[in-house]
Amino acid sequence: MNQAAENIYFNPWDPAFRANPYPHYQPLLAGPPRILDLFGATGMVARYTDVTAVLRDHAHFSSVRPRDPSEPPNEGPFAGARTMLFSDPPMHTRLRRLVSRDFTPRRIREMEPRIREIAKNLIDAAARKGEFEVMRIANALPVMVIAEMLGVPPDHYEQFKHWSDVVVSGDNTLPGTPLPDEFHAATKSLRDYFAEEIERRRRNPGADLVSALVAAHDGAEANTEIMTADELLAFVLLLLLAGNETTTNLIGNGMLALGQHPAQMDLLRQHPELMPRAVEEILRYDGPVQSTIRFTTEAVNLGGTAIPANLGCFIIVAAANRDPAQFADPDRFDISREPRDHVALGEGIHFCIGAPLARMEGAIAIGAMLERFPRLRIKNPNAEIVYKGSYFLRGLNSLSMSID
Ligand code: HEM
Repeated sequence: MNQAAENIYFNPWDPAFRANPYPHYQPLLAGPPRILDLFGATGMVARYTDVTAVLRDHAHFSSVRPRDPSEPPNEGPFAGARTMLFSDPPMHTRLRRLVSRDFTPRRIREMEPRIREIAKNLIDAAARKGEFEVMRIANALPVMVIAEMLGVPPDHYEQFKHWSDVVVSGDNTLPGTPLPDEFHAATKSLRDYFAEEIERRRRNPGADLVSALVAAHDGAEANTEIMTADELLAFVLLLLLAGNETTTNLIGNGMLALGQHPAQMDLLRQHPELMPRAVEEILRYDGPVQSTIRFTTEAVNLGGTAIPANLGCFIIVAAANRDPAQFADPDRFDISREPRDHVALGEGIHFCIGAPLARMEGAIAIGAMLERFPRLRIKNPNAEIVYKGSYFLRGLNSLSMSID
């Protein structure tokens, strides 16, 4: 595998690569899937047609990492328990069904007034003389919303937001390097915290998601096919981790794109009815999830490339969203673009279950900021933009904007 000969540089652990991965996707988009050496052979799937083909083919491209029995136990937040994100049918179907009714567009619409209220309060609190920090709102809103859905008291949110940030940034650790102590401490705290929350809801059930999951688990205790105790905890953690950082980064990346394209921001102010399209364009142009991962179950030919069995593959949705074969002038940020089915929220059976919620939170937060601050612009347009420590989940550390 000669990355240099093809002019491919793919190193998600390099801060410079993370700061702007998009030029590095272009050589990948110019040809069939490659197999590169990233601490071991890894499939690189970037073209839109290849990415959608993989995401629709869970039989050949599994979400379950093959494990060598001699490997040490899993150190991640789910401690090896299966979750819907990292499972295949029929397990995936069973787990997903447990919460699918809580994420329907109708259910999510019922939450709209409350989300608006939270956004307004956060913006009021963040406005300082002449400037405000977008990430204060972007960090707080999704975690407060998911905390309410999970029935967790709002005054705990900062604590578990911190743990969840540390856990998410763990994926920036170089393969083969031990995970930092901070990661282990945050993982343990998050697990202990939610193990206690589960017990609290078992004693005192409410109308929240954790109570519903506890009831599904306890009602089927004799039948561990439904959900084991470890899976129950992993399920709650998945909802928190998957829904939190991603939506934060939709809001942050979105405000950055609008700030860097003032004419588009003006257009959106003049035509607020473009907001749903603007949210889709933000997801396409600079999505919070850069890549997901699949593992081949057997040897397979993908787009002309022979991929061996049991190979881990990066399915780079953010590259597919810049594929010129699917999107005209893909590097242009254009909120009035005709929708062309981006894959920022996935595709197929694992399509993001939180999509209606994420879209609504993004639209409300961005809309409320534009409405509240008519002269919004990036405070230091020439300052370096610093990204957080995860390649897979792309988001800003901070984004200061001037408001007058
Ligand atoms: C803009 C924000 C979001 C983005 C960009 C996003 C992106 C994604 C993507 C790409 C997948 C598919 C992963 C794969 O196929 O491997 C996914 C799945 C998932 N998302 Fe989201 N997500 C967002 C918000 C949310 C929210 C708000 C929640 C929940 C509260 C959530 C919960 C989940 C869950 C549970 C899955 C796994 C679904 C399954 O495996 O069937 N996400 N998301």
